[in-house]
Amino acid sequence: MGIDIHEANRMRWEAGAKQWAKRADSRGLWQRCPEEPELVLSERELAYLSDIKGRKIAVLGSGDNQIAFALAGLGAHVTSVDISQAQLEVARERAQKLGLEIDFMRADVTALNEIRDGSFYLVYTGGHVAVWVSDITRYYSEAARILQLGGLFVISEYHPFRRVWKGSNDSLEVEHSYFQRGPFEYDASADILEPKTGTLKSYEFHWTFSDYINAVIRSGCKIVEVAEFGEEVADWEGAPMTGLPEFLLIFAQK
Ligand SMILES: C[S@@+](CC[C@H](N)C(=O)[O-])C[C@H]1O[C@@H](n2cnc3c(N)ncnc32)[C@H](O)[C@@H]1O
Repeated sequence: MGIDIHEANRMRWEAGAKQWAKRADSRGLWQRCPEEPELVLSERELAYLSDIKGRKIAVLGSGDNQIAFALAGLGAHVTSVDISQAQLEVARERAQKLGLEIDFMRADVTALNEIRDGSFYLVYTGGHVAVWVSDITRYYSEAARILQLGGLFVISEYHPFRRVWKGSNDSLEVEHSYFQRGPFEYDASADILEPKTGTLKSYEFHWTFSDYINAVIRSGCKIVEVAEFGEEVADWEGAPMTGLPEFLLIFAQK
């Protein structure tokens, strides 16, 4: 079941990559983040990234690749992994324009069979990736497997408290119980930014705070810090969530 769901999500991202690229172009961040990593990485994350020059880093579910570009700008050798070939092609073209050397690999984050155990000094993942993944324990266990002993596992995800609300301009009303993980099935259009229905299927998972923590514990990594921050609301979020944490950060070590 997991694989079919991932295949449906992959097709959604293949179809939506152009729109996603347009949005990133309009924001203008990807061009700047190699020189200004603080645009896409928080102070806390940067504190863990002070020693990455020349080190091997994997970014899992790399999407727009802004994190991959920032890490490459800081001197790391980055491998960017995503399930969607179209997403990777956009990123490859941008990396070329920026003069960054990045290895791109198409793979599902729950099955990184082509990567040998202990290959990386650091694995970075997040920014709305776990929501597409049907098995968070397998996902984080794969991340831990490809880390070298003593390596760092950095997770920066959209906070689960933000996933439960009904779309509304002026009041908060729970749409999905916090404890309902899904899968939530949607009929989706190729335009990834529009909630229009269409002929594609997409599936989302709402992992709870403890699901994230337990998946890291089960991966065999030791959690060294957890942080929640950000309380602004962006226009795409669709509910007045000011005051609720936006990011969940987990730092762990193998
Ligand atoms: C919302 S983006 C998140 C990444 C980045 N923060 C961004 O904003 O582009 C989600 C990315 O996860 C990828 N993805 C979804 N499911 C995946 C899976 N099972 N394995 C690897 N990548 C996956 C999608 O192709 C997409 O590029």
